[in-house]
Amino acid sequence: MKNEYIPQASKIREVIRHTDLEYTFRMTYEGDVKPGQFFEISLPKYGEAPISVSGVGAGTVDFTIRRVGKVTNEIFENYVGDSLLIRGPYGNGFDLEHFKGREIVVVAGGTGLSPVRGVVDYFARHMQECDSCTLIAGFKTLGDVLFKEDFALWKEKLQVIQTVDNAPEGYEGPVGMVTRYIPDLKFKNPENAVFICVGPPVMIKFTVQEILKLGMKEEQIWISNERKMCCGLGKCGHCRMGSTYICLDGPVFNYVEGKNLID
Ligand SMILES: Cc1cc2nc3c(=O)[nH]c(=O)nc-3n(C[C@H](O)[C@H](O)[C@H](O)COP(=O)(O)OP(=O)(O)OC[C@H]3O[C@@H](n4cnc5c(N)ncnc54)[C@H](O)[C@@H]3O)c2cc1C
Ligand code: FES
Repeated sequence: MKNEYIPQASKIREVIRHTDLEYTFRMTYEGDVKPGQFFEISLPKYGEAPISVSGVGAGTVDFTIRRVGKVTNEIFENYVGDSLLIRGPYGNGFDLEHFKGREIVVVAGGTGLSPVRGVVDYFARHMQECDSCTLIAGFKTLGDVLFKEDFALWKEKLQVIQTVDNAPEGYEGPVGMVTRYIPDLKFKNPENAVFICVGPPVMIKFTVQEILKLGMKEEQIWISNERKMCCGLGKCGHCRMGSTYICLDGPVFNYVEGKNLID
């Protein structure tokens, strides 16, 4: 019987440096994978970390990693250009069918843009498959902005509000939290609107409050929940909340269910 915990080696094909702390690692991978799913990335002696899929290419998968601790420090220090061990994909990911034909609004905070990048990019390249697509992406400062090249394309195709919490004097772009821009959203048919919110729990909480103030229903909102995980495949119980295993049943949830699963 195959041991599901055994990872496979995956070569790092390209490293895209967004900021000093956040790089995208483009790695070899053959197989089906959806945006919003995640892999466990590991290094012997250092451990494993769950990391979302931030892009999918021919024979490759992207991981946008923020350097925060044991495993991620080691990856940044010693593994750029080498290979890593990966197992997955795990979790449900985003089902594009939920969003086709709809007026889509994606609200993402910081690295929260990673799991939903594939969804935004899909609709930027297939605009005919949705009614409209708006991205509200918030970063702490201009130096924290991720996926700058993608933003260039997205700004041509989609309605994009790229905001920063703190801007230098004279900066003329959007400033402030993502929630500031939600009351101004306009819809042709509000019942056909659908929202995706990804980011820290506090950002999701306040973003959802603003969306509900627009008169939207909870079932029109989707979230991704990055609760602490261990095995990633429904065995250890680390991510369990009640009868829900975030790693198996999520991390993407409709808000009707997901609202009870936010820490
Ligand atoms: C489904 C899912 C998807 C994810 N996707 C991504 C992604 O796409 N990109 C990404 O960068 N991350 C992602 N994460 C988060 C990532 O898995 C964690 O940041 C992971 O812990 C990093 O592993 P590490 O060993 O480098 O950090 P760790 O060493 O585990 O440290 C993680 C955090 O804990 C703190 N910490 C560590 N040790 C201590 C201590 N002794 N006392 C107090 N605090 C401590 C660190 O400062 C840091 O903030 C995801 C998580 C989940 C669950
Ligand atoms: S992480 Fe082990 S059961 Fe979900």
